Amino acid sequence: MSRVVAALLFAAVAAVVAGSARPGASQPGASQPGAVPSQTAHYQPPVALSKADAARLDRVIELLESIERNTAPARAVKAGPDRPAVAKTRCAGCHTPAKADKAGGGFILFGDDKATTLKPLSARERTRVKEAVESGAMPPDRALTPAERSALTQ
Ligand code: HEC
Repeated sequence: MSRVVAALLFAAVAAVVAGSARPGASQPGASQPGAVPSQTAHYQPPVALSKADAARLDRVIELLESIERNTAPARAVKAGPDRPAVAKTRCAGCHTPAKADKAGGGFILFGDDKATTLKPLSARERTRVKEAVESGAMPPDRALTPAERSALTQ
């Protein structure tokens, strides 16, 4: 469970427990007219969850779990594809050492011909990559998705 969901769950449990410990909820006699409040009326021992509260808590947990299930893919999209993977699928056709001269204008992006590693780029080369990708000039064949673009330019 993520920390956010755990915190929400804690708050939900606290709210339910606070609800069942409401003064008068378990001590109906205390609110009768003329009743003298006894010492014990001020002390509320920890109350076991009633069936109704337990059921409510179950629904809260179900809801939180469904929120977590539904937000997990969004987080995965945010993390996005990583740079070497994007470069390999979208740039390796023209920018490996072997292909760069003929197909990639001499610009080498990879450390080897199988594109398993990216070549360490100079600051100038990184700027050229950023500009080529952000302007949409590269790759020339098919536009990058926003996630691919940010993986390459971050
Ligand atoms: C279909 C072949 C092809 C693919 C795929 C391709 N490029 Fe290129 N790239 C070229 C060619 C040809 C040139 C040289 C001519 C030019 O600059 O347009 C070039 C030039 C470049 C340059 C040099 C630009 C400059 O400043 O002169 C960069 C940087 C670059 N590509 C990055 C990329 C990146 C990053 C990818 C992947 C997202 C990519 N290219 C994919 C063919 C390709």
